[in-house]
Amino acid sequence: MIFLREATTEDLELLYEWANDARVRANSFQTKEISYQEHTEWFGRMLKDETIKQYVLMDRNRAVGQVRIELQGEEATIGYSVSAANRGRGYGRMLLSLLEEKIQAELPQIYTFVAKVKPENHTSKKLFESEDYVMKYICYEKKINSGGGGFYRISNFKYAAAKEPCMNEREAV
Ligand SMILES: CC(C)(COP(=O)(O)OP(=O)(O)OC[C@H]1O[C@@H](n2cnc3c(N)ncnc32)[C@H](O)[C@@H]1OP(=O)(O)O)[C@@H](O)C(=O)NCCC(=O)NCCS
Repeated sequence: MIFLREATTEDLELLYEWANDARVRANSFQTKEISYQEHTEWFGRMLKDETIKQYVLMDRNRAVGQVRIELQGEEATIGYSVSAANRGRGYGRMLLSLLEEKIQAELPQIYTFVAKVKPENHTSKKLFESEDYVMKYICYEKKINSGGGGFYRISNFKYAAAKEPCMNEREAV
């Protein structure tokens, strides 16, 4: 039986390990490795935050993936991953479909799922498109201050004003 359960304090280590998986970091918008302290502080805040729901995908008694949604009005932004050993076995697709069922049943105020995916993440793009997600925005950036380390982004992204990052800090993991 495959199902989603809500994350608890006991998932701290598991989610830490998965967050620092090489492919998860590479496909995230913050690619830097996450320190244990950073993760612990974030995890404590996250569990108390009513605008964030963190679930773990279970195959019977085995945790095989995770998905987090951030709620903003009628929208929920998705970040998800399947553990490295379990990728390519249909868990990602199952996770998205279970999430949809759960949110329809439990959070009827949510009308739209949003997923921000890097263009090179072909697996995730393919998965979303085959699950009837439609591409809505393209985000452009140009590095203009190579010495300063910072760059400005000009974006037509829905929530991003010019000079702000296109994506939230800890997305898509
Ligand atoms: C993206 C991710 C969650 C997909 O989960 P998964 O369990 O591997 O995906 P599934 O097995 O359900 O496969 C979904 C589709 O992707 C395709 N796919 C799987 N692995 C693939 C690969 N390496 N390259 C291309 N397509 C691939 C499958 O063929 C499948 O399509 P199909 O049903 O038409 O055959 C998983 O690869 C992952 O955790 N990646 C790292 C983190 C990440 O990128 N998260 C998403 C950020 S937006």
